[in-house]
Amino acid sequence: MSERYLILGASGTVGRRVLATMKGLGHAVKGASRRNGGPGDVRFDLLEPSTYAPALADVSTVMLISRPGDEEAHLHAEPFVEAMVRHGVARVVVLSALGAERRVEFSLHNVETLVERSGLGWTHVRPNFFMQMLALPPLSTEIATRSTLSLPLGDAKVAYVDADDVAAVLVRALIDPSLSGQGLDVSGPRALGHDEVAALVSRQVGREIRYVPLDEESAQRLLGLRGLSPAHVERVLRFYALTRQGWCATPDATVSQLLGRPLGTFEAFVVANATAW
Ligand SMILES: NC(=O)c1ccc[n+]([C@@H]2O[C@H](COP(=O)([O-])OP(=O)(O)OC[C@H]3O[C@@H](n4cnc5c(N)ncnc54)[C@H](OP(=O)(O)O)[C@@H]3O)[C@@H](O)[C@H]2O)c1
Repeated sequence: MSERYLILGASGTVGRRVLATMKGLGHAVKGASRRNGGPGDVRFDLLEPSTYAPALADVSTVMLISRPGDEEAHLHAEPFVEAMVRHGVARVVVLSALGAERRVEFSLHNVETLVERSGLGWTHVRPNFFMQMLALPPLSTEIATRSTLSLPLGDAKVAYVDADDVAAVLVRALIDPSLSGQGLDVSGPRALGHDEVAALVSRQVGREIRYVPLDEESAQRLLGLRGLSPAHVERVLRFYALTRQGWCATPDATVSQLLGRPLGTFEAFVVANATAW
């Protein structure tokens, strides 16, 4: 069978970039999400096993994502992983998250383990925070309407990565079987504190954006007001606590070499996304 790719989360920040790049490179690829996609794409819901077979028909390689914030991602991935094995899929590229291999309490850790034990070939792509999170609601709304950026990150630095670069690594992992059996950390080129993030956005938009470092209690209240469930709030707070310990502060050491080009900078991201703020 010639390679045919299935991209889950094809309507999302990273998935739609992966799908467009794969199509642009001329690969046989279909996108999958609950929303209607373009021609050749397929409606797919991880929570609806009846949607698995049409998505997996004639597919050799899959990009697997978990629902954002899913505390039980492994439980939802399990029947789909079994279906991939039944349908003769050869390789899976897992969109995971930075550090998942080191934290057994992360649901994405369990997704990685599930795939590794399935007998399928695998590559895990583990990104840092996407720069794009700052240009999408709720953070973009806060910046645009209040000129503040409220996060419980103290003076911690984050090596934010451009979603274009995350997508480029995923594409590379999909089309290059020699990356099988590897976990690829994907961070941006420089770690920034949030005073600096706010200063760079301020300079671009021509008004002062102020970073407001939140304590845990205020962050918990704010995330609750934004509609996150208590379990999701707890999970996000745990991740912010790790981030305060420097978990996300290490800049890229390998990905620019893998891609053979420099990674996108936060400065360029701010220029390209100024209308969001
Ligand atoms: N954002 C970050 O900073 C970050 C950092 C590290 C890792 N990650 C990982 O990257 C993943 C993708 O992030 P993203 O920002 O691209 O997410 P996103 O823009 O919110 O996209 C999520 C995608 O998942 C699809 N989806 C949601 N529920 C689904 C379901 N029940 N069945 C099938 N598809 C479903 C959505 O499409 P429909 O709604 O149309 O179904 C959408 O295409 C996250 O899940 C996270 O694990 C993110």
